[in-house]
Amino acid sequence: MPETQSPPVMGMAAAEGIEDPFEAFNAASGQGSVRDPYPIFAAMREAAPVHRVAMDGEAQAESSMLRGISREIYVAVSYDAVKEVLTDAERFSSAGYAESMGLVMGHSILEMDGAEHTRHRRLINRAFTRHALEAWERDLVRPVVNRYVDRFAKRGRADLVRELALPFPVQVIAAMMGLPEELHGSFHRLAIEIIGMSIDFERGMAASKKLGEMFRPLVEERRERPGSDLISVLANVGTEGERLGDEQIFAFLRLLAPAGAETTYRSSSNLLFGLLSSPEQLDALRRDSSLIPQAIEEGLRWEPPLPSIMRRATRDTELQGVPIPAGSSVAVNLGSANRDENYFEDPDRFDIFRSAEHPHMSFAFGPHLCLGMHLARMETRVVLTTLFERLRGLRLDPQGDDVHITGMTFRSPMVLPVVFEPEREVSPGAAGLGGDAAR
Ligand code: HEM
Repeated sequence: MPETQSPPVMGMAAAEGIEDPFEAFNAASGQGSVRDPYPIFAAMREAAPVHRVAMDGEAQAESSMLRGISREIYVAVSYDAVKEVLTDAERFSSAGYAESMGLVMGHSILEMDGAEHTRHRRLINRAFTRHALEAWERDLVRPVVNRYVDRFAKRGRADLVRELALPFPVQVIAAMMGLPEELHGSFHRLAIEIIGMSIDFERGMAASKKLGEMFRPLVEERRERPGSDLISVLANVGTEGERLGDEQIFAFLRLLAPAGAETTYRSSSNLLFGLLSSPEQLDALRRDSSLIPQAIEEGLRWEPPLPSIMRRATRDTELQGVPIPAGSSVAVNLGSANRDENYFEDPDRFDIFRSAEHPHMSFAFGPHLCLGMHLARMETRVVLTTLFERLRGLRLDPQGDDVHITGMTFRSPMVLPVVFEPEREVSPGAAGLGGDAAR
């Protein structure tokens, strides 16, 4: 998801109760600048479950990233505070997104509340059935992942971020939508421009319009001649009176690239980084693939790709004892909740054997719980099993230069240089690629 929905980290003054806790964050408008915010989150949690933070008015006026965010924001850092906000959509609304990312996305499910959200979600959910997921895994995700691995398997070394984790989820989303292959490149470019609206708002708006123009004829065509792709499902779902309108479909499709690709690329990179940095856990997983689901959850808990989301208080209220005035923006720190020591023992440790007693918050909680979480899990599972099947002796490149996760609004490693035994034979997974399967 784009930066526009992340907590305002630029130009922030000190949070109450701690000595300038956001100093390190001030420079963090992008990746590479914040290495480990978790000690700061821990200090915040220790001081209070919720903090009031005053915004720097000048920075706010200059940054489109901070559009629609109140002058004083509240940051929920404890597990209980985060869960309370996300569970109670009546007190903590998602409508604030309309003034930030909604400007470029359109009126999407993300900014809906209450009955409108329930109705919309019920319709869209029909595109994400178990049956669809199985077909996507077989016909799309496996071939796409294998096609990327084909490109470096014989080389014996690769950068798993740039050569696999970054490109494959966008290809999956584009193919799921049923975009003709010649449009995949422009879809990817426009999706990046939309996400970049925090840097260049006009460009983001222009990209939004172009995406709408790209989708319009496809929606019309699929209304006439539906296929099994996502656009066909969205164009025809529901009874006469409840059909989704064109603009609603466009908004959802615009949302999917940042929501589905940006997050999945980063979460699978984070998990790979955790495993490659703990070779004994990597070996255990290789030996016993039944551990893969819990490894995926631990990767998500330990380093969520999207550490924070936003809500807005609909009325004067109280959160974990802290009064919050109506209209205040509330930054919901999922990353901090995931490391709350009251819920997770030794929370900074990456440990795939951790008990799953408490769910992590990386897919959010409550009514807006990530709609694509089963798809994201499946994609990550396919990446892991493909790498294990094809690349023997996979490990971090010892020549690699201090590889680590960075970022504030999004978090992931920028590179993941690895070495492995060069693949000799044609892999079974690589067979039958090209044509429809590889799209
Ligand atoms: C590991 C990968 C992913 C993570 C960590 C993630 C995280 C999230 C989070 C935190 C939210 C809640 C946002 C909010 O309420 O402010 C969300 C919502 C959503 N996600 Fe994901 N997501 C991931 C993958 C995907 C994928 C693959 C798709 C679809 C292709 C997807 C589609 C959506 C949609 C449509 C929503 C809005 C749901 C609603 O508003 O009811 N996500 N996701």
